[in-house]
Amino acid sequence: MSCPAAVLTADMRAFLCRFHEERGEPGLPARLRAAEEAGRWWPTTAELTWGAKVAWRNSTRCVGRLYWEALNVRDLRELNTAQAVYEALLQHLEDAFCGGHIRPVISVFGPGVRLHNPQLIRYADDPINADFVAKLRRFGWQPQGERFEVLPLLIEVGGRAELFPLPPQAVQEVAITHPDCPAVGELGLRWHALPVISDMHLDVGGLHLPCAFNGWYVQTEIAARDLADVGRYDQLPAVARALGLDTSRERTLWRDRALVELNVAVLHSFDAAGVKLADHHTVTAHHVRFEEREARAGREVRGKWSWLVPPLSPATTPLWSRRYRAREESPRFVRARCPFHTPTVHASTGHAPTG
Ligand code: ARG
Repeated sequence: MSCPAAVLTADMRAFLCRFHEERGEPGLPARLRAAEEAGRWWPTTAELTWGAKVAWRNSTRCVGRLYWEALNVRDLRELNTAQAVYEALLQHLEDAFCGGHIRPVISVFGPGVRLHNPQLIRYADDPINADFVAKLRRFGWQPQGERFEVLPLLIEVGGRAELFPLPPQAVQEVAITHPDCPAVGELGLRWHALPVISDMHLDVGGLHLPCAFNGWYVQTEIAARDLADVGRYDQLPAVARALGLDTSRERTLWRDRALVELNVAVLHSFDAAGVKLADHHTVTAHHVRFEEREARAGREVRGKWSWLVPPLSPATTPLWSRRYRAREESPRFVRARCPFHTPTVHASTGHAPTG
């Protein structure tokens, strides 16, 4: 049968071919014809679901990919008001938190939606959010000036952006305490339970769809970067003082010792609160298992080494001696192209080595 003028690009065809081949689904020629005849590329929910899972599997910066098949995919492409998107995101937060068990969830929206927040839950006093906070102020938001103040959502649909506060019950947080040093707990540190990336698009066959997705934290993300980086909460000097370490000379390794104890504290606090989070030894061992499974399936695992090795004791993990090809395959997550976004937000995902 002859086709009308080709609508599908090579990317779209490749996506459909992979979907059918990997799942052993019959009907590829008919699906290609139907897509051509529809005159536009619009994946089915089954295709989108597969695409989102494989985008996770293909994420070269993610060390937690072992569970890629368990991703909960919500096809929300039909939502067409900011209010509806907001309500869907509140539901996402609730389902993902799941009383502390934390489920990996992705909400996928239509192309007319834009989520301006780099992550759904972020704090106003975290220097990484300075540009976004400035943008929120231009939209009329006023910070109260509290420590760990949660930012509102800025949701745009059809070219109109609106602010929505996150109610306290939508934001689960863990207060950080240390198992044997109460002074660390007295620093008043806390962190949110869910990392929900909202500034990347899901690329399915070249169609870029706005989305929000989460897994659970690895403690190093919080304890060795978010709370520790000099350009973030910069808490190592305070933790060292709380531990009574000698900070007068570098050679006491007070930074390193404070860093380890802050990691101990974050693991202890999440465990005590019943909130799931991984540790860097277990998650890297899981990545090795993921690599073995992928090898059995005949697929190559790509990776950005500097993102996969943890920022704490990297050489003690099995990933240290491994090498990966870095180029990411499709379907995949891509940085949202957005005229307002500033380059600084890149460090909000994973643990960018340059932070
Ligand atoms: N590193 C980011 C943060 O500290 C979160 C990136 C996603 N992490 C994850 N475990 N899914 O907020």
